[in-house]
Amino acid sequence: MKIAVIPGDGIGNEIIVQGKKVLETVAHKYNFDFEYEDVLLGGSALDRKGTPLPKETVEICKSSEAVLLGAVGGPKWDKLPSNLRPEAGLLGIRKALGVFANLRPAILFPELISSSNLKAEVLGGGLNIMIVRELIGGAYFGEKNTIDIKGGQKAWDTISYSSFEIDRIARKSFEIARKRNKRLTLVDKANVLESSKLWRKVVEKIAAEYEDVEVNYMYVDNAAMQLIRDPKQFDVILTENMFGDILSDEASMLTGSLGMLPSASVRGDSFGLYEPVHGSAPDIAGQDKANPIGTIMSVAMMLKYSFNMEIPAENIKDAISKVLKGGYRTLDIAVEGAKTVGTEEMGNLIIKNI
Ligand code: IPM
Ligand code: MG
Repeated sequence: MKIAVIPGDGIGNEIIVQGKKVLETVAHKYNFDFEYEDVLLGGSALDRKGTPLPKETVEICKSSEAVLLGAVGGPKWDKLPSNLRPEAGLLGIRKALGVFANLRPAILFPELISSSNLKAEVLGGGLNIMIVRELIGGAYFGEKNTIDIKGGQKAWDTISYSSFEIDRIARKSFEIARKRNKRLTLVDKANVLESSKLWRKVVEKIAAEYEDVEVNYMYVDNAAMQLIRDPKQFDVILTENMFGDILSDEASMLTGSLGMLPSASVRGDSFGLYEPVHGSAPDIAGQDKANPIGTIMSVAMMLKYSFNMEIPAENIKDAISKVLKGGYRTLDIAVEGAKTVGTEEMGNLIIKNI
């Protein structure tokens, strides 16, 4: 089974090492073999190949069973034109691989309740929300431009969705909801946006085929507020690209830290792209400070979604729980009295518990 590995930029390089280590540990324990191929993406690809998305990266990812990605971006490349920025590489690889459904579970480990910014009674002993973010359409991929006009400039981005794009991710979300608490919230801005109206129309139609799933509809501004007010009301949140980008960062803070959140980007077959939700954190890169848990949880998602290996995936999650129970914390989730550890030691502790 071939896995393409993209360390990327910044802390991507450190967390990927830990993710691979965990993968190798479970491979050894459960007796299976992975083959890895490291490829370039983002700023490091630009520096070495002159483009944030080299052709061979796309080819190698396409010929793999799964892709494990760290993070891309950094101040060094911030002033470049959009098509050369590291983010163009990330958006480009997602698009090239056709991974339209980005699953971002916001799970609060009970051990981290005191790291969350919300009061314990609001969190009610834990939290488990699945955000399904559309990943390869909407504003980030729509027609866009900046032009000079009299007295200044004008810029625009367009949000456009076809019913086909909404249909396929809605079905996926209903299937996911079926295996969870059977509740689905479509988050949109249907009181203002045409594209949101189409989302509602398509989702309403599909909902009729999933009568066992309870559906509700919520405007995105309200959803942003409800996530803080009463996050336990949510089970599956389905939403378009930009709203999902924003709400998943918000949801991550409910769980203690952005460093904890994994993601799986899938498309309907067993192929998937797995990456933590956080970015490349250039301010702490190379200092052994980053939290590798988002990446390690992404490895667990890979085992589950691409390789159908639920037991090893659960094994990883249990190992993380045990380490947190033991009081070990990276800086981002540290509270008073915690045993603060670095990136590498956190990885080692998790391995020891597998
Ligand atoms: C994310 C990130 C990316 C996105 C950026 C880096 C392009 O914020 O994965 O959430 O917007 O998708
Ligand atoms: Mg984001």
